Amino acid sequence: MADLALLASGRDADVFALDESRVLRHYRQGGDTAPEADVMAYVAAAGYPVPAVYTVDGPDLVLERLDGETLLDALLAGRVAVDTAADLLADLHDRLHRLPARFSAEPTDRVLHLDLHPQNVMMTSRGPVVIDWRNAAEGPPDLDVAMTALIFAEVAVGPDAQLADFARAGLGAFQQRAEPPRATHLRTALGMRRVNPTLSVAEKAALDDAAALVHTRAG
Ligand SMILES: Nc1ncnc2c1ncn2[C@@H]1O[C@H](COP(=O)(O)OP(=O)(O)O)[C@@H](O)[C@H]1O
Ligand SMILES: [Mg+2]
Repeated sequence: MADLALLASGRDADVFALDESRVLRHYRQGGDTAPEADVMAYVAAAGYPVPAVYTVDGPDLVLERLDGETLLDALLAGRVAVDTAADLLADLHDRLHRLPARFSAEPTDRVLHLDLHPQNVMMTSRGPVVIDWRNAAEGPPDLDVAMTALIFAEVAVGPDAQLADFARAGLGAFQQRAEPPRATHLRTALGMRRVNPTLSVAEKAALDDAAALVHTRAG
């Protein structure tokens, strides 16, 4: 891997260019990418925009190399407006949650991404594409919406003032478009963030303040 060009790093993964059309996505702490590759293949077959998966090998995935930038970079550079980003995210939730669940027998359960935020959407020449399916699961769509809102809110209470302003505006715009989640689903999202190893101690300490910014409906 040492001789490959590092394209980007997230909290879990390093992404290297293999050639013009493929990247290697490697989990620094190890792990098994097979479950997320399966979800990606499933939603791709239903027409949902994800990078094609070429090979799966433990912590390594070889993926279609996407052109363009993340939605976060586009927002920060002023190439995409906050309202447009919120429209995109709400639409990506809607489209995902129209697909039938793969396993769940609960009729209202759907495939959930559970990490659908502007750094996990790439603005490509074939439209917005959703990456980073590590947390994908099945359950009520509301939980996915609650998670996106909570992640916006976490950044809104975070230390980076510029990002916080964007996130506060993004949270407001997203919540105008997606129905406010049930309070119970926000609590579940909060519980998941509390045990998410990619959050720092400071971020975990601010989770209650973040959750207080998210509008919920009864239930
Ligand atoms: N298929 C891809 N093509 C091009 N860049 C990618 C691709 N997948 C990820 N990236 C870049 O790598 C970054 C981290 O990838 P991601 O899958 O979100 O890992 P993490 O789990 O660490 O957040 C993304 O924000 C994006 O900039
Ligand atoms: Mg990511």
